[in-house]
Amino acid sequence: MSTHPVDTAMKGILLAGGSGTRLHPMTLAASKQLLPVYDKPMIFYPLSTLMLAGIRDIMIISTPADLPQFERLLGDGSRYGVRFTYRVQPTPDGIAQAFVIAGDWLDGAPCALALGDNLIFADHLGVLLRAAARRTEGATVFAYQVRDPERYGVVAFDDDGRACDLVEKPEQPPSNWAVTGLYFYDARVGELARRIQPSPRGELEITDLNRIYLEEGSLHVERLGRGCAWLDAGMPDSLMQAGLFVQTIQSRQGMLVGSPAEVAFRMGYIDADQLRAIATTMGKTELGRLLHELANGEVPR
Ligand code: G1P
Repeated sequence: MSTHPVDTAMKGILLAGGSGTRLHPMTLAASKQLLPVYDKPMIFYPLSTLMLAGIRDIMIISTPADLPQFERLLGDGSRYGVRFTYRVQPTPDGIAQAFVIAGDWLDGAPCALALGDNLIFADHLGVLLRAAARRTEGATVFAYQVRDPERYGVVAFDDDGRACDLVEKPEQPPSNWAVTGLYFYDARVGELARRIQPSPRGELEITDLNRIYLEEGSLHVERLGRGCAWLDAGMPDSLMQAGLFVQTIQSRQGMLVGSPAEVAFRMGYIDADQLRAIATTMGKTELGRLLHELANGEVPR
């Protein structure tokens, strides 16, 4: 794996666990994060986001039953010029548990975490992500206005626009700013995650980890504005909306959304021949055609 100017020392975790109960019966025999969002498995979207942040050392965490499927799909990462490590989350005990599970692998490195069912699409997203990945102190989260904040972690702002409170799935949301499933933490994350106690629902909550940073004044909250789309694909409607969104952008603009191969090429992790090899594995699909065009320099950069 050659190094690249935008690389960061930050590691990344892709969390693809859970039982996907809100998508039953689709998830009775299949992992939620492997369901299709238009023309790709769901996990490709948050994976592309981590890679766009310049992160090349990524651990994929899933259930004992599903992990082998992710390995089959993604391999060791060499085809994308990155490195994947796989680890099991034996029981769904919360998002923040990922840092405990990954503790020895993290080995004191800063780390980003992406939830396997979150899709972020925005102009200049790469710039925003790489700035977050380079920050050496504190944590960065992204907030997005939604109509149903009670489904999410919610951030409240004071009169000066500074984040002053964070609440997980509040019955009475203090704002409509939801915290998205993409988090960047400094090198203390492994140690801080071990301090968290299970919540009343028995989980190590990511919101409790974020609150530690908030309380010490080192939580950066980036508000994603109207030019951004944040979608989670955890329920039938949002899964369908995410698919339609990707289809709309790709067919209108001929630009890919959520393709790790495209990101790997644009970030310089792989060259045109390597990209062509990936495109060829996709046969005569539209996705394969678009990747071939990109490799041949026929797509706007
Ligand atoms: C989780 C987090 C929540 C966050 C959301 C984003 O919720 O606990 O704070 O806003 O992801 O997708 P869950 O999807 O586990 O209900």
